[in-house]
Amino acid sequence: MSSKNKDSITKSQKTEQTSQDTDVVASREGDVNFLDQTLRPTIWKDYIGQKNIKDNLQILLTAAAQRKHPPEHLLFYGPPGLGKTTLAHLIAKETRAQLKATSGPAIEKVGDLASILTNLSPGDILFIDEIHRLNKAIEEVLYPAMESGSLDIIIGKGPSARTIQLDLPPFTLIAATTRIALLSAPLRSRFSGGVFKLEFYTNEEIEEIIHRSAKILKVDIETEAKTEIAKRSRFTPRTANYLLKRSRDLAQVRESKLSKETVMEALNLLGIDEVGLNATDRALLTVIEEKFNGGPVGLNTLAAALSEEQATIEDVYEPYLLQLGFIERTSRGRTITERAKQHLKLKNPNKLL
Ligand code: ADE
Repeated sequence: MSSKNKDSITKSQKTEQTSQDTDVVASREGDVNFLDQTLRPTIWKDYIGQKNIKDNLQILLTAAAQRKHPPEHLLFYGPPGLGKTTLAHLIAKETRAQLKATSGPAIEKVGDLASILTNLSPGDILFIDEIHRLNKAIEEVLYPAMESGSLDIIIGKGPSARTIQLDLPPFTLIAATTRIALLSAPLRSRFSGGVFKLEFYTNEEIEEIIHRSAKILKVDIETEAKTEIAKRSRFTPRTANYLLKRSRDLAQVRESKLSKETVMEALNLLGIDEVGLNATDRALLTVIEEKFNGGPVGLNTLAAALSEEQATIEDVYEPYLLQLGFIERTSRGRTITERAKQHLKLKNPNKLL
């Protein structure tokens, strides 16, 4: 196993931490990673939204506990920042299981996965983030491991090659992906516990998340400021928390209240407009409109025009633009909608579109 891979496997903290641990937070506020961890809910009650998934999981976990079995394998998919990793950690906590986390790109060789699997203890949860980036040969080792708890490895090459079969301890695989379409049908079908799509949050849910995070960060935030952050949060908790922290920074530096005006100033400084679009979102729309006459334009052409990776456009920018109804995906490529044109016109009133 590569050392990178070894580092990426971490055991979930065994220490109990709840949203009430605000003193600990205050003393370590400089550490951004720690803050991100801390804003994440660690008990179900604090996990806002995704009601359908929560309801299903609670039945699944209760039934598995009654049968004294680890829960079956689960797959979460959806745009980044909606809480896939958080769900995996909550499940580990609920089932009192140890969580070992890794990711598709960190598993480079069959041996890496074999080593991870053979080091599992009974009842462990193995979390694989970005599972769509696992290569085919490794995927095939995963199939029997998921299905029958056995690890089949081929030793040697040519006529003298032989397969050895190892029994693995019972475990639960929880995988996450932003790209469900890239997963092969055989892999998808092995998530016998279920395949769950995380949805964008409502504005009300995002406001609730901001309220909770502000409490943890011990910042006094006005109601209108919460609404303003929510409006620009792309229906995504990770973005909401990021915008809250940046607005808090400005309020702190200015020694002012965390008001709607402070939020607007902080987010305007970051180039985030009133519906949450950043400079790249706007460039994407402008390029479709101006360079390609409104579209349709193919993803590869669009990526080249923007100097962005196709995957980044598909994973990060498009889901929200589609959700807003600002772009449409057709078989011939992406087109801009009338609604997006209006939005761009409002941003640049002197521009003829
Ligand atoms: N932080 C990130 N995701 C969250 C959620 N779903 N509920 C509460 N806080 C969150």
